[in-house]
Amino acid sequence: MTRYIVTGGSAGIGAAVVNRLASAGYHVTSVARRKAATDVELVESVRCDLSNLDQIESPIKELIKRGHPEGAVLCHGFGDFGSLEQFSEARIRRLVDTNLTSNLLLARLLIPIMKAAGKGTLVFMGSEAALRGGKQGAVYAATKFALRGLAQSLRQECSGSGVRVAIVNPGMVNTAFFNELSFTPGADQNNALTAEDVADAVMTILEAPPHAVIDEINLSPLKKVIRQR
Ligand SMILES: NC(=O)c1ccc[n+]([C@@H]2O[C@H](COP(=O)([O-])OP(=O)(O)OC[C@H]3O[C@@H](n4cnc5c(N)ncnc54)[C@H](OP(=O)(O)O)[C@@H]3O)[C@@H](O)[C@H]2O)c1
Repeated sequence: MTRYIVTGGSAGIGAAVVNRLASAGYHVTSVARRKAATDVELVESVRCDLSNLDQIESPIKELIKRGHPEGAVLCHGFGDFGSLEQFSEARIRRLVDTNLTSNLLLARLLIPIMKAAGKGTLVFMGSEAALRGGKQGAVYAATKFALRGLAQSLRQECSGSGVRVAIVNPGMVNTAFFNELSFTPGADQNNALTAEDVADAVMTILEAPPHAVIDEINLSPLKKVIRQR
């Protein structure tokens, strides 16, 4: 049974990745606070708050015990923007724990089992904010730059063991990511990617032949237009 783990599979990009994988006939375990929004039999949900770093190890170890996953796509995360001095220590910790530290802990659990199996693909969900910083993005960009450094380092560390590591860096994607934010992509369809566009990029990485690693995919909408609410 070929199985994938997808974090953040309950909404947005992660949900689109879950759907793509299930449509291709793979078993998928979604890990998020909410269940995956699908009744497809191939999809199961493990509910977990990945910002709660003490609670990550136990459910992931349980999942690993059931057998080697073919790969994992780590899509969970959220956006929080503002100038650095507006962020309390707790607000910084929440964003860093969710967007960065949880990914380190998940990779630390998943990489050894993939190395032992001599195969597996780990895909991180970065952002255009992993490529360049911008106004109001200090903390968010810090998490995504660090995630990209993690992906690049693991990519080199793991290749000798047959394990592939990649990162996808999307520009603005039309999802609930923007629900609590003061801005959204512009209204024109050229101003935002769809979650399915990003899932297609993930599938390209996963379906590359085993000897080929697509280290990184950067994709963005045709025109970057930001609309303030
Ligand atoms: N949308 C964009 O423009 C954009 C652009 C570049 C990169 N990204 C990145 O893409 C990823 C997914 O974003 P999205 O656009 O798909 O947003 P979304 O629609 O809001 O989905 C976010 C997903 O992350 C999960 N998640 C958030 N906090 C979590 C937590 N504490 N524990 C477990 N799961 C958690 C959510 O699940 P639950 O709420 O069920 O826990 C949900 O499944 C994020 O890493 C984001 O930084 C987004």
